[in-house]
Amino acid sequence: MSLLRCTGVTKRFGGVAALSSVDLAVSEGEIVGLVGPNGSGKTTLLSTIAGSLPVSGGRVEFAGKDLTRTPPHQRAQAGIARTFQVPRPLGSFTVAENVATASMFGRHRTGRVEAIDRAHEVLEEVGLAAHAGAQVGALTLHERKFLEIARAIALDPQLILLDEVLGGLNPSEVAMGLDLISSLRDRGMAVVYIEHNVRAVSSIADRMYVLNQGRNLADGTPTDVLDDARVVEAYLGGPVDA
Ligand SMILES: Nc1ncnc2c1ncn2[C@@H]1O[C@H](COP(=O)(O)OP(=O)(O)OP(=O)(O)O)[C@@H](O)[C@H]1O
Ligand SMILES: [Mg+2]
Repeated sequence: MSLLRCTGVTKRFGGVAALSSVDLAVSEGEIVGLVGPNGSGKTTLLSTIAGSLPVSGGRVEFAGKDLTRTPPHQRAQAGIARTFQVPRPLGSFTVAENVATASMFGRHRTGRVEAIDRAHEVLEEVGLAAHAGAQVGALTLHERKFLEIARAIALDPQLILLDEVLGGLNPSEVAMGLDLISSLRDRGMAVVYIEHNVRAVSSIADRMYVLNQGRNLADGTPTDVLDDARVVEAYLGGPVDA
């Protein structure tokens, strides 16, 4: 049985259909890559799964329950965590306080003291332990991106939704990020991972979905998807070499 099942998800903004009857299924403990050209609806789909955008049609089911009309904070408590394409840290808090705050609102809601302990564990895991007491404004882009992942991990989710968490990073930072994302799967989390760098996501994904103009274009193993002529055409009109 799928952990997450989106069926016929449609989202209109005024007259514009950002998503038209999109299907997506994710099993426990798998990394699903979500790719597609700019404006193809990837972030919108993530927002309908996290609950920050209501759907215009279709269903979102998670762990056997229909969450289509459930508000975002209840979806977080049910085990769904997301990151934002542009990091959204709490600017007046330290790095550790940012992570602790997340852990107070997750699946196992914790008190303040326990939340701070948990925050230090998660910061260790993402390699930011040395910055625990720093102000968020002092972090580099790579550190802010990893803080965003840390805040999602602190919710103790079953499903983690990552929106271009490695965008703008250099190759060694991308490699560290890919190891971190793989380690989430190794701990039993399911991951939906949006990434422009198709080669990067295909190196760790178990399966991939491709969106184009708000519709499902292709899905399957990374090899099948990257060899699909429709995918190549949608991206570049030539071979995928991102
Ligand atoms: N809040 C909004 N109001 C109106 N239109 C929106 C809104 N959010 C997204 N859209 C439109 O919906 C479509 C899909 O956008 P979305 O951000 O989901 O694409 P994306 O695949 O994440 O793109 P990118 O790769 O650039 O991040 C676009 O045409 C976009 O302009
Ligand atoms: Mg996007």
